[in-house]
Amino acid sequence: MFSTLKLIVCCFIVCANICRLHAKDCSVLSDDMKFDCQPETDEFATQDRCEQRGCCWQPANSVSENGDGVPYCFYPTDFATYNMSTPEETVFGYTATLKRRTKGYYPNDIMALKLDVYLETETRIHFKIYDPANARYEVPIKTPKVTKKVNVTDYDVKFKMNPFAISVIRKSNNKVLFDTSLSPLIFADQFIQISSSLTSKNIYGLGEHQDKLAHDVTWKRFVFWARDMPPDSGNNLYGSHPFYLNMDNSGNAHGVFLLNSNAMEVMLQPTPAVTFRTIGGILDLYIFLGPKPDAVIQQYTEVIGRSYMPPYWGLGFHLCRWGYGSAENTLNVVKKMRAAGIPQDTQWNDIDYMDQTRDWTLDKTHFNVLPSVPADLHQHKQHYMMIIDPGIASTATNYGPYDDGIKKDVFVKDDQGKPIIGSVWPGKTAFPDFFNPATVKWWENWARNFHDQVEFDGMWIDMNEPSNFIDGSTNGCPNNSTYENPPYTPRVTGGKLWAKTLCMTAKHSIGLHYNLHNLYGYSEMVATHQVLINIRNKRPFIISRSTFPGSGQYGGHWLGDNDSEWSDMYYSITGILSLNFFGIPLVGADICGFNGNSNEELCQRWMQLGAFYPFSRNHNSLYCPSYPVMCKDQDPTAFSTAMQKSTANVLKIRYALLPYLYTLFYHSHINGTTVARPLFFEFPDDPMLAVVDKQFLWGSALMISPVITKGATTVDAMIPAGVWYDLITGQAINQPSTQSVRLDAPLDKINLHVRAGYILPWQYANLTTTETRMNPINLLVALDVKGQAAGDLYWDDGDSLDTVAKGAFSIWQFQAENQQIKSNIIKDGFPSSSQMSLGEIKIFGLKSSPTQVSANGKDVQFSYDTLYKVLTVTNLKLPFNKFNTLVWT
Ligand code: GLC
Repeated sequence: MFSTLKLIVCCFIVCANICRLHAKDCSVLSDDMKFDCQPETDEFATQDRCEQRGCCWQPANSVSENGDGVPYCFYPTDFATYNMSTPEETVFGYTATLKRRTKGYYPNDIMALKLDVYLETETRIHFKIYDPANARYEVPIKTPKVTKKVNVTDYDVKFKMNPFAISVIRKSNNKVLFDTSLSPLIFADQFIQISSSLTSKNIYGLGEHQDKLAHDVTWKRFVFWARDMPPDSGNNLYGSHPFYLNMDNSGNAHGVFLLNSNAMEVMLQPTPAVTFRTIGGILDLYIFLGPKPDAVIQQYTEVIGRSYMPPYWGLGFHLCRWGYGSAENTLNVVKKMRAAGIPQDTQWNDIDYMDQTRDWTLDKTHFNVLPSVPADLHQHKQHYMMIIDPGIASTATNYGPYDDGIKKDVFVKDDQGKPIIGSVWPGKTAFPDFFNPATVKWWENWARNFHDQVEFDGMWIDMNEPSNFIDGSTNGCPNNSTYENPPYTPRVTGGKLWAKTLCMTAKHSIGLHYNLHNLYGYSEMVATHQVLINIRNKRPFIISRSTFPGSGQYGGHWLGDNDSEWSDMYYSITGILSLNFFGIPLVGADICGFNGNSNEELCQRWMQLGAFYPFSRNHNSLYCPSYPVMCKDQDPTAFSTAMQKSTANVLKIRYALLPYLYTLFYHSHINGTTVARPLFFEFPDDPMLAVVDKQFLWGSALMISPVITKGATTVDAMIPAGVWYDLITGQAINQPSTQSVRLDAPLDKINLHVRAGYILPWQYANLTTTETRMNPINLLVALDVKGQAAGDLYWDDGDSLDTVAKGAFSIWQFQAENQQIKSNIIKDGFPSSSQMSLGEIKIFGLKSSPTQVSANGKDVQFSYDTLYKVLTVTNLKLPFNKFNTLVWT
């Protein structure tokens, strides 16, 4: 019966299992096949301890950059682990029991486990390994509940019984995507480990870390533990995203997601293989079959939740700094931006607006007139954002948010049941427990109260790892708890779990901080999203520092406290692309750099790159290098007029292309596709592109090749095979095969190329998105060699709630072929669609000048550029809904 279901059960001879208890086979392993049996620090790792674990000890001499190398201590091939009962078929897939007979080396092994395998969709398999006798912590985020298996799958699943292993195979090419037989499964109360082979060394994702886009598999360790940590290679950063994408050598990608929020490590090794090591929860693993990389992300976001539709203004340019010092200075910068003609949608304030950095207060000396800032911005169709930190000052007298919070019992507790006190900007602070519904009400109340004075449009939620300037709490942490000092601690920055955060024994309404730490920022996003909706009744705009899978449903992310250095500009690209893999397309880095002084060249280049971050914000620190020297201003008006002009120009290109970007956000919201994506996503079977991470794409059609090197006036861009048009001139690059091409990049230029075969909607830019949105829609048509192209436009009012769910939007599809362009409205729900008009159409790649051009059957004026072969038709002035064809002969 199983064979019809493609279930293959390999049984080992009974004696092998008995022998395992006695013998130890250390001989056969090549270095690449060694799986670390002693991941503890070097001080801990000794031959004695290794052998006590039943493992093999063999010193090796390769050490990688981050200190890990070929493990000295590794599992013998016959290490005792779980055996599997004969899997039973169920309505959802299979179920089996896993049992071990001998205790392992970490305390509290779970001797009998349950395995459930869910065949959830054609391209998604899900398996859970858990303790059937005692409920363990499971991550409280919503995922699809599948109770019935699908009949048709792109994968086979195979089991090995003695010892237990599971593998998942792609049917179409028989490639093994996941195979746990290389190393033993370990499942103790506070140490869970599973390893798998990879299909190739092309592995991406695993965030939040600063790294190249394609990770190195040479013994690399990634730690997943939210931490207030300026981006730096090798450290665990602000969020946790235990998801990877792996692409085989023929361009088929799959993804793996471990839904687990405990402190975790992922180890990559050259086998190539991956090891997940977590210290709590259960093994809740999803495998996504792709096979296109973008399909993997769609399948992943189907599980964790699709990204939300940001307000249109949120896609404009944002300006911020720490240390404007006063409301007047804040507004002066905006005025300078207006005078310089530089687009800006949103002005932000950092913690200096607060009274003694306390949430929901105003510094009455310098920011007394802060309410006039949003008032002025709103008059100019601009928006206002300010920072809010979770830490609530706990020692101030007559401080409402704390007093009220105590009354309503909204704070995270210590092990004794009292609010746990740490220290953040305002000094001693308590930490709201956003999992508690009472906290969300309290949060809303104070936000509303503040909104009545300062009419903010969104919230920047920072320090929500949560960050704590002292380790644990003002009273330290209980030292006799296995939560504070677990048998194994992943190699977190700071050495201990509570470094720069709360104690692990701290209590939230739904459980221990030990389990929930990585979800703190997520829980604040969920609460704040709802609060903003309740207060403003418009689309919320939230930028959060800490994130977890699913955060993209509630807001966006910025990459934290980078340095004003060229290398950090490069890492911003890999960060943005990775966050798109994690379902958070609304992402950007601090343009021009946060820590340290920027300079004109760096900032000019960074503004060019940052104009193409999905979330585009220039933000600066307070002191450089230290108190009391203020960091130099780095808003565009702080530089020469040439720099200002170049910045205005590139931001106008961004604003012009927002209809295209917004449409990509719609696709992300509906289908989970990425907004910013690496080149290999579009050309997965081109090995030349697998590691390209200094360029990227908006959707399928716009390639961005920034200068990220000091002094450079050219870029060596990897141009994929095909035809690519310069966005501004229409000049074609015709690539028979993928090659590096040296492109001119004088200081005032960023190279932008449109891919042949696509149609992009755009508008002439004004200084705000609100005004820009009133302009006619134009079409940029980039013909391929067959004279064809296609594209679409999603449009709604840009700010009201649930337009997609309510159907209050319109979608047009555009198609070019046979010397004509057609527009079809496939959904007309946007109430003002009849007021939209078509302005101009530009066609790139038209081999010769037409003699006649007509729109909706009427002749129209046109011009033709013989040098770059561009046809331009301006002044169409047609109602957008009525436009159906443009024909040229
Ligand atoms: C944190 C944030 C940074 C902010 C600063 C002051 O370091 O990451 O963006 O400017 O706090 O609030």
